[in-house]
Amino acid sequence: MARKVIIDCDPGIDDAVAISMALFDPRIDLVAVTATAGNVPAEQASRNVQAIIERLDPPRFPRLGAATFAEGCAGTDNRLMHGDDGLGNQGFVVSRLHHQHPSEKVICDAVRADPHGVTLVCLGPLTNIARAFQRDPELPVLVDRLVISGGCVDGVGNVTAVAEFNMFFDANSARTVFRSPVTKTLVPLDVTRTVRLTLDFLDRLPPETTRVGGFLRRILPFTYRAYHQRLGQESILLHDVVTLVSVLEPALFECTEMSGDVETRGELTLGLTVFDRRHSPQWRANMDVARRADPEKVIDCMVNSLSLAGSAAAGE
Ligand code: BDR
Ligand code: CA
Repeated sequence: MARKVIIDCDPGIDDAVAISMALFDPRIDLVAVTATAGNVPAEQASRNVQAIIERLDPPRFPRLGAATFAEGCAGTDNRLMHGDDGLGNQGFVVSRLHHQHPSEKVICDAVRADPHGVTLVCLGPLTNIARAFQRDPELPVLVDRLVISGGCVDGVGNVTAVAEFNMFFDANSARTVFRSPVTKTLVPLDVTRTVRLTLDFLDRLPPETTRVGGFLRRILPFTYRAYHQRLGQESILLHDVVTLVSVLEPALFECTEMSGDVETRGELTLGLTVFDRRHSPQWRANMDVARRADPEKVIDCMVNSLSLAGSAAAGE
């Protein structure tokens, strides 16, 4: 049976690829896609969620949630790696900005409609999740599982020396979520970094004549260029897509129970994910953490899922 999923995201090119898979993969029943500020500001994130879904035109539209200004968050974004509009500067237009409920309300409603039945896949900063838990304090125990893209166990960050972007952007919300009793899995940079996509990934996408193939061929070249120009790398990472694969095919990942928290104050360490790895840990284990994946199989899963999206969404 398909797993009911909400994707909370800040599109972002890797978020967009993950949504493209989730909209058509029969293993997922995508009930809602909620936007949050992160890679791009709140309004742009909401616009992007709508643009992606309208372009791909799935048989069943998920509910959409709008991002609202994230107070107290790091004054940063990730437009260098995703484009000024977050989707590779392709100038996608949305038909009209539908009236949408705020993301945290959509999350609360969807979880309440099917207690213990919904997996929340968090591909951006955890602002909406913390807000949803504040709005409805019983929610953490009603969510089936939270799967979080972000953090790092080895302490090697991607936005600062030690912090991963999603954790750094809203460290307070990340801490609230880490400390909440929700059942959770973290898919950190240590694992997502092992899945490198060389240029030939583009040849494995569905044909350009399909809606998804055409869409991905418009946004992904920006990522290859950004990695080349900014990092001197010829291959790219699609962190959030790896996280989605962990939902589609958990067997490809080796997970360990760990106790994690997030630094919310450090001058050099804001957003650092901290794990008690002492011989005799003093903190209680509060999450499963993906520690290893099989990169080739993860890539095959992406390709296969996207090919299903290609067959499901015929051309324009
Ligand atoms: C995370 O940061 C964002 O840029 C990506 O979309 C991903 O969610 C990786 O650190
Ligand atoms: Ca993201």
